[in-house]
Amino acid sequence: MSPGQSRPFDGLIVGAQLVTLDGEHGYAIIEDAALGWRDGQLAHVGPRSQLNGAPEAVASEVIDAEGRWLTPGLIDCHTHVVFAGDRAGEFEQRLQGASYEDIARSGGGIVSTVHATRAAPEEELLRQSLPRARALVADGVTTLEIKSGYGLDFDNERKMLRVARQIGHELGICVRTTFLGAHALPPEYAGNADGYIDAVCDWLPRLHAEGLVDAVDAFCERIGFSNAQTRRVFEVARSLGLPVKLHADQLSDSDGAALVAEFNGLSADHVEYTSAEGAAAMGKAGCVAVLLPGAFHVLRETRLPPLQAFVENNVPMAVATDCNPGTAPLQSLRLAMSLACTHFRLTPEQALRGATCHAAQALGLADRGRLRVGQRADFALWDISQPAQLAYWLGGQLLHSAYAGGVRVA
Ligand code: NIG
Ligand code: FE
Repeated sequence: MSPGQSRPFDGLIVGAQLVTLDGEHGYAIIEDAALGWRDGQLAHVGPRSQLNGAPEAVASEVIDAEGRWLTPGLIDCHTHVVFAGDRAGEFEQRLQGASYEDIARSGGGIVSTVHATRAAPEEELLRQSLPRARALVADGVTTLEIKSGYGLDFDNERKMLRVARQIGHELGICVRTTFLGAHALPPEYAGNADGYIDAVCDWLPRLHAEGLVDAVDAFCERIGFSNAQTRRVFEVARSLGLPVKLHADQLSDSDGAALVAEFNGLSADHVEYTSAEGAAAMGKAGCVAVLLPGAFHVLRETRLPPLQAFVENNVPMAVATDCNPGTAPLQSLRLAMSLACTHFRLTPEQALRGATCHAAQALGLADRGRLRVGQRADFALWDISQPAQLAYWLGGQLLHSAYAGGVRVA
């Protein structure tokens, strides 16, 4: 290449085995592959032999993967990583027989994290939350959804969403924020859930105007909010053009799946108690089922999501950590994949799709989750000898490196 002539790729990885997930089935593997990117997007995904010239001639930076496996960057599409304090004491109470609902009704649970989160200044909240996000990235996550929901007043919900955005800047990854004002009833609204929903509906446009909200969620449940209350929040979201998703049917069948499907929501999450009719409604609406096996595991839940009904209704299944201080103190998306295989009998391939392309769909993001020319250059290189190992190992350090938008982040 003559001086002054620019190379086609900013970066190029050679000698990798690619798990492209292109198409609807199978890993779609390309062996002895090359992956090139330019301006943050994939520009070559194919066999090394199809490269148009020597690697050094076509790319400014060349990395030899030495046979490692390369997948799309993992996408954690449901987390509550921003919070202060912890609830290890409640973990002990539950092991002695108290239920999650008992603890919530006696003023603990989500509300106890609300007290700790309100008390933490913004920098302190960032300081406590960053290590959790860092742990997820160190395990291959390049896109991270983060919810509010432990502030439950305007200033503290805003503080949480601002911290979520700062995490994205700090770690160089893409953070998608979700407003979860309707997570629990704060003590100052005791006995007045409808009044609290009025306040949530008032905060949402203001937070959105500050660019802090990418999507809207609610906890539709006996210990959360009713269908009618959830509907009111969703109507405001719809008027703002914001997509909705829902903590649906986690502890009881509250018809949450059908409700979020009615609003053409991105996803219904948890879904252990979702009925066959709910699954059918999700299928018609193109709504993703986000499986959260960490919460299932920690709560010692025994009721399985309607997995067969999801398959029959072509409902894509995503897998996420739900990382939170109550039901899922889980800081590894790979571990969530493993739990999804063991508890829900997903195959390791389904679990990987659940943490990549289906998770992208659950966030409404069409530009990532597969290795394909034109997609974002978000990918992870792994020290494994076959893709099933990603879900097989519980823990361990398997990640070699991860890139978001073509920039190394882990
Ligand atoms: O996804 N169920 C509601 N929200 C969270 C738990 C939050 C908490 O207990 O702090 C969940 O399980
Ligand atoms: Fe959750």
